Amino acid sequence: MAKTTCVVSCGSSEVLAARISERLKADLIRTEIRVFADGESKIRLRQKITGDRAIIVQSLYPPVDTNLFRALSLISKSRECMTDVTAVIPYMGYARQDMEFLPGEIVTMAVLGKLFKGAGASNVVVVDMHSTRGLELLGANAINVTAVPALARYFADMHIDNPLVVSPDSGGAARAELFASNLGADTIMLDKKRDRNTGQVQITTTESDVARGRNIILVDDMISTGGSIVKAAQFLKSQDCGEMFVACTHALLVDGAQGKIKAAGVSEVVGTNTVPGQNGVVDVSEDIVRKLAAA
Ligand code: R5P
Repeated sequence: MAKTTCVVSCGSSEVLAARISERLKADLIRTEIRVFADGESKIRLRQKITGDRAIIVQSLYPPVDTNLFRALSLISKSRECMTDVTAVIPYMGYARQDMEFLPGEIVTMAVLGKLFKGAGASNVVVVDMHSTRGLELLGANAINVTAVPALARYFADMHIDNPLVVSPDSGGAARAELFASNLGADTIMLDKKRDRNTGQVQITTTESDVARGRNIILVDDMISTGGSIVKAAQFLKSQDCGEMFVACTHALLVDGAQGKIKAAGVSEVVGTNTVPGQNGVVDVSEDIVRKLAAA
């Protein structure tokens, strides 16, 4: 007999959850959330969770801990009535905390790995996880979905003349290469150094003059405060590049990041709907469903 699936949304990824359920032809179970004066969430399912498999969809953008706790609560609730519970976390908060950079720092991704497993998730699906190390810390059943080809298709439709794809740091080089090969463009990587104590970022490159006159597409997994992208854009501008665009999977854009990035000379920031908002224009539901079918 065919397995029946339900998709459960818990507030932070309503549109994406609805699209995933449509593509899977699965029931969509919505939740009602009340927040008490002390900050506690009271979650109520609008329908009973039924079927053989539950897919919980919840991105962990701010408020990160609140969204995380709501996801864990619904995983745990689903596990009461079925054994196959998949957590789809399109944007995985804490993904950058994947190692002990300074002595005594908590590797929070390892904690999250234990929390998802403890709550009852059989597997965790993430879009463009910051690092493979972070994915490994989530556990053996963690699956990464890449939105990079979808982002590249969006840029292909923009018909940008003489494009140069740039990774702002070595950690994102493979992502930028994948984007460039999908777009049929050249790529370079900048050298980013971050002071772990002050958070200050410095950008350089070993390749001189390569950006002169080229229209730039900066590719990154996420933009939070915009600090890294602003530094990269200022550096590329000092190299007399042409127009600049940004392609990123998770456009969090906190703390006035959008204004700062525009002020640094970037024309447009294109993100995906892992983080809803005006920059989340590229839909990742098809990529997620393709992986879910294989999981
Ligand atoms: C760093 O390695 C990441 O890929 C991002 O470039 C960075 O974390 C984005 O953060 P922010 O926008 O605050 O610089």
